[in-house]
Amino acid sequence: MSGRLKRGLQALTVVAVAAYTTLLLYQGAAQLPPSRPSQQMFAARQVSRGWQERAPRSVGRDYDSLSLSLPESAPPPPTPPTHRGPPPRPPPAATTALQDVFISVKTTGSYHRARLPLILKTWFQLAKKQTWFFTDTDDPEFQLKTNGHMINTNCSSSHNRKALCCKMSVEFDVFLESNKKWFCHVDDDNYVNVPRLVRVLSGYNPQQDWYLGKPSIRAPLEILNRDNTAQKISFWFATGGAGFCLSRALALKMMPVASGGKFISIGEKIRLPDDVTMGYIIEHMLQKPLTVIEQFHSHLEPMKFLRPDTIQDQITFSYSHYSKDEMNVVKIDGFDKRIDPTRFLSIHCFLFPYFSFCPR
Ligand SMILES: *[C@@H]1O[C@H](CO)[C@@H](O)[C@H](O)[C@H]1NC(C)=O
Repeated sequence: MSGRLKRGLQALTVVAVAAYTTLLLYQGAAQLPPSRPSQQMFAARQVSRGWQERAPRSVGRDYDSLSLSLPESAPPPPTPPTHRGPPPRPPPAATTALQDVFISVKTTGSYHRARLPLILKTWFQLAKKQTWFFTDTDDPEFQLKTNGHMINTNCSSSHNRKALCCKMSVEFDVFLESNKKWFCHVDDDNYVNVPRLVRVLSGYNPQQDWYLGKPSIRAPLEILNRDNTAQKISFWFATGGAGFCLSRALALKMMPVASGGKFISIGEKIRLPDDVTMGYIIEHMLQKPLTVIEQFHSHLEPMKFLRPDTIQDQITFSYSHYSKDEMNVVKIDGFDKRIDPTRFLSIHCFLFPYFSFCPR
């Protein structure tokens, strides 16, 4: 074998081992039980399209507390709930329109100036009456800019479990007071493709129970039952940072356990973040399955794998920083990176080129 070929093969082996180790490390970090065949298929499918080409840095940060509640040893895997929802059916007689949707954006005082202007300039313009910002400070400037759509939850501004559950609890209660058919939660680092969201929702009947979103872990989460520590509970949850939606019918069923601040008590009891608490209430307490909608995207996914020809089909986008100079963003032509580091302006002009700030 020629020296050159040999070196090439050695290099390939190193790359393969490194990739495999990264995968193992990621799975280890998530402390999940070993996968069953069906889950392996789910994992394999994600690997094949490069979903976890590199473990996003923020997985650990965002779900740090999960490991606290996870069992030490790997227990026998649970029976997965009906994870894959039925495909969207033809729209019911009364199709969903924009005015039927309540969109809540979770933010915090220190992010108003950094994150809200981009949202207000882009997708908010397409859903001004439907979108509400849930924050933790009074901000007269943004109260004016959003036409009074800032809601001070009076929750703590820290990024801890209790504060996050407190905000989700207020979001849920404000939705219940509205007469909207759908509750959709997103974060302040999400871009929402508003017409696409409405179109996808109109494939589901809001008078039935629907929990629509996308998980960011590859197997259902397992926790110990605090009331009976011999028992394990397993459930899926939709990542809050990708956006998720609940039908009014489901929200009404959740009312007895989750309204009027009771959501916070459940979060405290199981000691898990807001989006995980939501999954616990819906999948475990109410036994209603999560329906996976692939078009929701959080910053836990590498954005660069979104194919340019599918941009208009996606419901949400996000962004994050891999490092000081490397960002996890959608790969899309458009504005210069210095003007549009998050790519949200470019996505917006691709989808809605008639906006005045878009190049002609
Ligand atoms: C927050 O506190 C203010 C002042 O006490 C009150 O008017 C407002 O209704 C509270 N907001 C929520 C969402 O409870």
